Amino acid sequence: MKSIVTYFSASGVTRGVAERLAKAAGADLFEIVPEKPYTAADLKWTNPLARCNREKIGKKDVPIAGKIEDLAAYDLVFIGFPIWYYGAPNVIQTFLKENDLAGKKIALFATSGGSDMGKTAEKLAPYLSPEAEIIGGKLFAPTASEEELKQWVATL
Ligand SMILES: Cc1cc2nc3c(=O)[nH]c(=O)nc-3n(C[C@H](O)[C@H](O)[C@H](O)COP(=O)(O)O)c2cc1C
Repeated sequence: MKSIVTYFSASGVTRGVAERLAKAAGADLFEIVPEKPYTAADLKWTNPLARCNREKIGKKDVPIAGKIEDLAAYDLVFIGFPIWYYGAPNVIQTFLKENDLAGKKIALFATSGGSDMGKTAEKLAPYLSPEAEIIGGKLFAPTASEEELKQWVATL
């Protein structure tokens, strides 16, 4: 089974987990990069006018730079992100709209400041092909080891 770890990371925490997961799963790696990178000011959720809050409130799509080469080749697609507002950041919605994952298995992973996965998967479902199957979803600590990630992959 060929797999790819896709991820968005605004400040690098999810990137570390994604890189170790790709090793643990023997998977390719694809970073979901917004066309316009997030600055520290963009992420300041305590400011009501910050980009993150405007995107959230406006349910805005976040244009993505670059595409997965040969998406058709993959059977299992990992999708990783930081938890934002108890769910996935809007850029993940955009990613799902742009990439038809019909027929693929999906495993979600995330990092957060304390929230768990909550209803993250349910909230993403409307943007996902009905023929894609979410087979797992797990929150990891920033320090999650390759061994811990390997154990999770074995349960999928
Ligand atoms: C806009 C925004 C919203 C966030 N919302 C939550 C949240 O609802 N719950 C939580 O535990 N952490 C929240 N966080 C914290 C991030 O999930 C956490 O810092 C994460 O590990 C960052 O990952 P990254 O470095 O890959 O971007 C939020 C962070 C930002 C910037």
